[in-house]
Amino acid sequence: MPEPALLTTISGARAYTREVRARGLRVGLVPTMGALHAGHQSLIERAASECDRVAVSVFVNPIQFDSPADLATYPRTLDADTERAAQAGATALFVPSEREMYPDGKPLTLVRVSGLTEVLEGAHRPGHFDGVTTVCAKLFEACEPDRAYFGEKDYQQLRVVSRMAWDLNMAVEIVPCPLIREEDGLALSSRNVRLSDKERRQALSISRGLKAAEAAFQEGERRADALKALAAEPVASAPLAEPDYLELVDAETLETVETAEAPAVLLTAVRMPSARLLDNVILDPTRR
Ligand code: PAF
Repeated sequence: MPEPALLTTISGARAYTREVRARGLRVGLVPTMGALHAGHQSLIERAASECDRVAVSVFVNPIQFDSPADLATYPRTLDADTERAAQAGATALFVPSEREMYPDGKPLTLVRVSGLTEVLEGAHRPGHFDGVTTVCAKLFEACEPDRAYFGEKDYQQLRVVSRMAWDLNMAVEIVPCPLIREEDGLALSSRNVRLSDKERRQALSISRGLKAAEAAFQEGERRADALKALAAEPVASAPLAEPDYLELVDAETLETVETAEAPAVLLTAVRMPSARLLDNVILDPTRR
């Protein structure tokens, strides 16, 4: 397994991917904030199966954090990340410094996708998505990938970044990849490492609720109220779990819906004492 090239500057990343593309090869990009887990690994493996070279960016993007404590405690594990990325098929790691990405501290230009960002995560984390779309636009500029891979775990982020790429005619295909769970159902997240054993046990109520809603949907239940009640019940009996929201939304517009007759997503965010967790299930009547 060859060591991935370590790129730390925007010009270095651009030179690497331009040279690859000049040879007629395809570049995949997997944008991450590091602390790579099996979910990231699946994105890198997918990228490696579809592209000739895979760059993984590792950058804890300060402008998408609404809580200084969350930013300060975000796990940073570059050595382990390098190994995991290499094993999954990454050929380059792009690890810019904050100064490289934001030489003036805060950029004066932000990319904002209106309409999709005021709800759900956006309503609870003001400015979060402007930070995500701005850094993604910068990463796409730096790496000029043919494809960029995003997990459905952060479903709203996936929709927002896809819409940005579409609105701005960006020459990158955004590839959605399935959410990956631990064997016991917990959705993989870099923040899971912060959970105590007790929190982790109670956090399982989130996926248990969503699975119950999904099972009911598969049996023909389409009403939002009924699906949400099933998803909410286990979380309500977990004393450490505080839901921020639980919504059934249209899979494309993210508008709340009364029924899941068209492709919809049941999305939730739950605050545990040490981490805020996101999870969702896609309820698509056309997928059986
Ligand atoms: O999902 C993430 O890890 C981040 O939001 C992303 C897409 C890498 C942008 O910083």
